Amino acid sequence: MSATIIDGKAFAATVREKVAAHVARLKSDHDITPGLAVVLVGEDPASQVYVRSKGKQTIEVGMNSYEHKLPADTSEAVLLDLIERLNADPEVHGILVQLPLPKHLDEDLVINSIAPAKDVDGFHISNVGLLGTGQKSMVPCTPLGCLMMLREHHGDLSGLEAVVIGRSNIVGKPMAQLLLGDSCTVTIAHSRTRDLPGVVRRADIVVAAVGRPEMVQGDWIKPGATVIDVGINRIDAPEKGTNEDGSVKTRLVGDCDFDSCAAVAGAITPVPGGVGPMTIACLLANTVTACCRDAG
Ligand code: GUN
Repeated sequence: MSATIIDGKAFAATVREKVAAHVARLKSDHDITPGLAVVLVGEDPASQVYVRSKGKQTIEVGMNSYEHKLPADTSEAVLLDLIERLNADPEVHGILVQLPLPKHLDEDLVINSIAPAKDVDGFHISNVGLLGTGQKSMVPCTPLGCLMMLREHHGDLSGLEAVVIGRSNIVGKPMAQLLLGDSCTVTIAHSRTRDLPGVVRRADIVVAAVGRPEMVQGDWIKPGATVIDVGINRIDAPEKGTNEDGSVKTRLVGDCDFDSCAAVAGAITPVPGGVGPMTIACLLANTVTACCRDAG
């Protein structure tokens, strides 16, 4: 393996330290404590883990955490009413509705009911428009974390060829906007892209966000390229044996085949310990930003 491992866990810890220092100053100088409200509808196990982790880290940096757990059959009216109350609550500076929502709820409608200034996910159509036009906005946390790691590793990104694999609203599209904002030449590739390996081979920067375990292979990677792996996929790992109930043990992998990519890349983020920790750190940073803008 030749690639430098980009340690997202360590980087996220430094971001959280800065956030904690900022929170302490807001408290001592202005008597303000930033507050983050997280809304979870239903019992999706992965979402429950994320929400617990977000709440814990929010408190660890000295902010207030407000968790709202609603049953899976919550009506749209009840959810919108909660968001309206959170929008009006001066103690709440950031609001996050954990996705995906149960099928009967209109995700776009719900997200667009969040006050744009409190939309710490950056998913509201106003923030999407601001980002797309290069104006100050709330920036989605996962792409923001990826950009911070890329800037830290490369310095100036100007003129680099970047290929983003995946066109989701949460990662792919905002990631492309951010890289464009840093003057990269950006391609968004997706499931219909012809000759995906050939497209990826052009890239100085590869951001993989497709949700397909270990899809990107080492022979797709230009030697020395930087690979940012956004994927978090749980796959069977029979080599680890079985659980007490007889089921096969599992392990987490990214969208990139780590060993073959790391043999060719100049730098790569691991899974776990790469992009994941940066996402929550950026959520905390966005909440402080929302609080500061609110305080004028
Ligand atoms: N589900 C998966 N990622 C995210 C995220 O970044 N924000 C929200 N709200 N839900 C998610």
